[in-house]
Amino acid sequence: MQFTSSWRSPSNIALIKYWGKHGIQLPHNPSLSFTLSECHTNMHMQVMPNASSPGLDLKYDGKDAPAFRPKMKAFFDRLADHLPWLASSAVLIDSVNTFPHGAGIASSASAMSAAALCLADIDDQLNGRVTSLSNEWIKRVSRFARLGSGSACRSVFPIASIWGKTANVEESTDEHAISWSEQVSPLYHDYRDTILIVSSGEKSVSSSAGHELMNSLPYAQTRYAEAKNNIQSLIEIMRTEDRVEEFISICESEALQLHALMMSGKNPYVLIEPNTISIIKEVWQYRKETNIPVCFTLDAGPNVHLLCPASFIVPVQDWVNTTLVQYCAGGVYIPDRTGNGPVKLI
Ligand code: DP6
Repeated sequence: MQFTSSWRSPSNIALIKYWGKHGIQLPHNPSLSFTLSECHTNMHMQVMPNASSPGLDLKYDGKDAPAFRPKMKAFFDRLADHLPWLASSAVLIDSVNTFPHGAGIASSASAMSAAALCLADIDDQLNGRVTSLSNEWIKRVSRFARLGSGSACRSVFPIASIWGKTANVEESTDEHAISWSEQVSPLYHDYRDTILIVSSGEKSVSSSAGHELMNSLPYAQTRYAEAKNNIQSLIEIMRTEDRVEEFISICESEALQLHALMMSGKNPYVLIEPNTISIIKEVWQYRKETNIPVCFTLDAGPNVHLLCPASFIVPVQDWVNTTLVQYCAGGVYIPDRTGNGPVKLI
């Protein structure tokens, strides 16, 4: 007997950053992200339970893809208690990302959330349950996704989500993310994220190694406290549309702090490039000159996420084409926006 499932799942960009973890993929501080729309993974999974030769076969666009194997294998091992049939199954995964391969965009959030969706779907089939896509079901998927990659647990909700125990947010937990779309003003339901590809190379230090280094950083506790303060402020700021200046201030501060943490301690490293800095300076100057509320955030790499409300995208896009494209590797950027979360395929 064979079971199959296909899902599309998006990437996400954190505004309040998850940086530092403990235990089994538990965050030291809560994070808040926008779910993206255009950058996603399409995944097809095939499971044969009680297989004569159990194992994991990974393909990218139909071709063998061993590079992703260690992370997927670790994910499957962590799921053993939740999905007891997994260990004796033959699993075939074929996936493809819609963002350019080697664009330096982390695919773990979209890929691990897609895998979590397929696995939860197949678990329902195996146990004769009709998948309901209820709130409870999505939370279960988010919990699974977290075990694959922390940030992946936020990708399964539309528009915005929060992961990690957060003061005054009753439902919040370190175990899985929760939806945060209804709590933000309509302004943030169509926010634009133009992803400027500064470098398409592989990261020199993985996120996992970066999280690990936080454990030896003298500033770690201060950072976790700061993130907790920032998320409290951002939650209030995003409830209305007239506090965009404060939104900008927190987003940019979080992005720079993330990289400042990497550049600290006894084993510092630098992931931003000269062109990352050039773009940041251009953003500050453009905002001063035009009053257009565009700002940047960064993830664990040199690429810049340029955020602005949808109503400003025309001048911002013009400015990207005339001024910022020179800082992009091969002139590449990806116009993205807040999106509605995963979609079941076929
Ligand atoms: C900087 O989720 O990639 O993008 O849990 O080890 O897989 P693992 O790490 P990962 O870390 C993401 C870090 C970040 C910030 C964020 O997305 O919150």
